[in-house]
Amino acid sequence: MPNARNDRTPAARAAVSPMDDDLGDLPISQDAPPAASGTGDRLAFLMGFVRDPSGVGSVVPSSHRLERRLVNNARIAEARTVVELGPGTGGTTRAFLKAMSPQARLLSIELDPVFHARLARTARDPRHFAENASAERIAELLATRRLPAPDAIVSGIPFSTMPQDVGERIAAAVSAVLAPGGRFVAYQVRPRVAEFTSPHLGTAKFEWEAWNIPPMRVFTWVKPAA
Ligand SMILES: C[S@@+](CC[C@H](N)C(=O)[O-])C[C@H]1O[C@@H](n2cnc3c(N)ncnc32)[C@H](O)[C@@H]1O
Repeated sequence: MPNARNDRTPAARAAVSPMDDDLGDLPISQDAPPAASGTGDRLAFLMGFVRDPSGVGSVVPSSHRLERRLVNNARIAEARTVVELGPGTGGTTRAFLKAMSPQARLLSIELDPVFHARLARTARDPRHFAENASAERIAELLATRRLPAPDAIVSGIPFSTMPQDVGERIAAAVSAVLAPGGRFVAYQVRPRVAEFTSPHLGTAKFEWEAWNIPPMRVFTWVKPAA
């Protein structure tokens, strides 16, 4: 089993605590392959990777098993306001919408205009507001949509490849807008997100999701209650 403590920097090593790999009450199928969305999504995702390899960060969308882990870790079913950073072709978005209550709202923020246009077509739902913007603008976009402080923010944007100042701004903005007791869940190939986020939200719960291409680190922070 890979271990985040083996990774590069002392800050990254200090910022995570390895936890057990317990998936709680998730209905995990043992025989399914690491499935992504449909063929159209996979092709669109691959083309997005070709357009911007460092911004997209993977060649295939997240597996259903990773989607379920995100839903569980972020407690999407109990959230009133959910924010997704980097929805891509929308597999994760649709998983969140499926788990959300009828009263909940989802704001998705996607930088790539082609992904955004596709998402607007394929994740139509009256509870979903899709924005074509950088995650740095999360506070402004929540205010524009008159959405309350999110209980859950889920991010697949690759913090490992972004400039230091952008990563710092996104982590600071996420930490500021999150409701007390709210959760920030980041799924990442590399652990750099912890260097940006742990100064604001403390130590993360850390897990691996091996049933994904590539295997993914999943960090979960809980903002202290006020
Ligand atoms: C690894 S993909 C995740 C896609 C999808 N959520 C999934 O799991 O299949 C990362 C996504 O983050 C988007 N992204 C990268 N930087 C971003 C930023 N600063 N703000 C918003 N989205 C960003 C990319 O365009 C890409 O769609």
